[in-house]
Amino acid sequence: MSTTVTERDPHAGAPLGEPLLLAEDVVAGYLPGVDILRGCSLALHPGELVGIIGPNGAGKSTLLKALFGLVTVRSGTVTLAGEDIKNHRADSLVRRGIGFVPQNNNVFPTLTIEENLQMGLYQAPRRFAERFEAIVDIFPTLSERRKQRAGSLSGGERQMVAMGRALMMDPKVLLLDEPSAGLSPVRQDETFIRTRKINKAGVSIVIVEQNARRCLQICHRAYVLDQGTNAHSGPGRELMDDPKVIQLYLGTLAADVEKADADRAGSAQISG
Ligand SMILES: Nc1ncnc2c1ncn2[C@@H]1O[C@H](COP(=O)(O)OP(=O)(O)OP(=O)(O)O)[C@@H](O)[C@H]1O
Ligand SMILES: [Mg+2]
Repeated sequence: MSTTVTERDPHAGAPLGEPLLLAEDVVAGYLPGVDILRGCSLALHPGELVGIIGPNGAGKSTLLKALFGLVTVRSGTVTLAGEDIKNHRADSLVRRGIGFVPQNNNVFPTLTIEENLQMGLYQAPRRFAERFEAIVDIFPTLSERRKQRAGSLSGGERQMVAMGRALMMDPKVLLLDEPSAGLSPVRQDETFIRTRKINKAGVSIVIVEQNARRCLQICHRAYVLDQGTNAHSGPGRELMDDPKVIQLYLGTLAADVEKADADRAGSAQISG
C-alpha cells in the first residue's frame, strides 16, 4: 500500500554510518507543561561541523542545553556513539568527551585567564601544562594575557577564553552557542576561521549561529529550527540556495541572491 505523505528526512545530506551525537524527537522545556522543543532531531557525524540557525526564540540554545543535560528532556532520545546520555549530568558528559560553550556568562570574570582554563580541567588537573600548550597554540593571545582577569577582557577575548576552557578536556564534540555574537565583522570572521580549524583538527562541532549566512557557508550541514521543531536541514550550500529558506530565514540575503541572479543574467547576455 502506498502512502501519500512523504516523511521529510530530518537529517538530509548526512553521511552514512553511525552518528557520534544523535538527538531524536526531543521534547524539552523549562516550566511544567510548557514544551519549548516539540520533537527536535539532530545528528552529528564524526568530523562534521553542523550548524543550527533559526529565528530568535526558536529553541536553538535550548537544544544545545538538552544535548548537554542542562534542560530536562521529557521524551525522545539522546545518544553519544550509540550510548544513552539523555538527562545525564553535564560533568559526566564532559568526562565522556563533550564540551559546551554557552551563549551568555561563559567566563568567570573575577578569575584570571589561566584560572578560567584550569576550571575547564578540574576533572584532570595534572594535564594542565600539556593542554594549556595546545590551547594557546589556537589562541596565542591567551598565553600573553594569562594573568589578566577575564572580566577585563574584550568580548572577542572572552569568547576565546570560553572556547579554550571547553577545549581543555580535549573533547570529541564541541557545542558552541553563538560564538560570534556581539563581535565586530573582523572578529566574527576570526571566530569562524578558528572554529573551522578546531573542526579540521578532529573535533566534531555543533554551532548555533545568528549569522545564518556565514554559518551556512562554513558548515557541512545545517538545521533550521522554528518554534521548537525542525523546519529544514541539508548541506549548508543547498540551504543557502533554497528559496523557502531564503524567504523565511535568511531575510536580507534574498535581495543579495536576486542581485547575484540579475548580475549572472546580465553577464550571460553580454557574453552570449
Ligand atoms: N530558563 C528559561 N526558563 C523559561 N523559559 C526559557 C528559559 N530559557 C529560554 N526560555 C524560553 O524558551 C524559548 C526558546 O529559547 P532559546 O533560548 O532556546 O531560543 P534561541 O533560539 O536560542 O533564541 P536566540 O536566537 O534569541 O538565542 C523562548 O521562548 C524562551 O523564552
Ligand atoms: Mg540562543
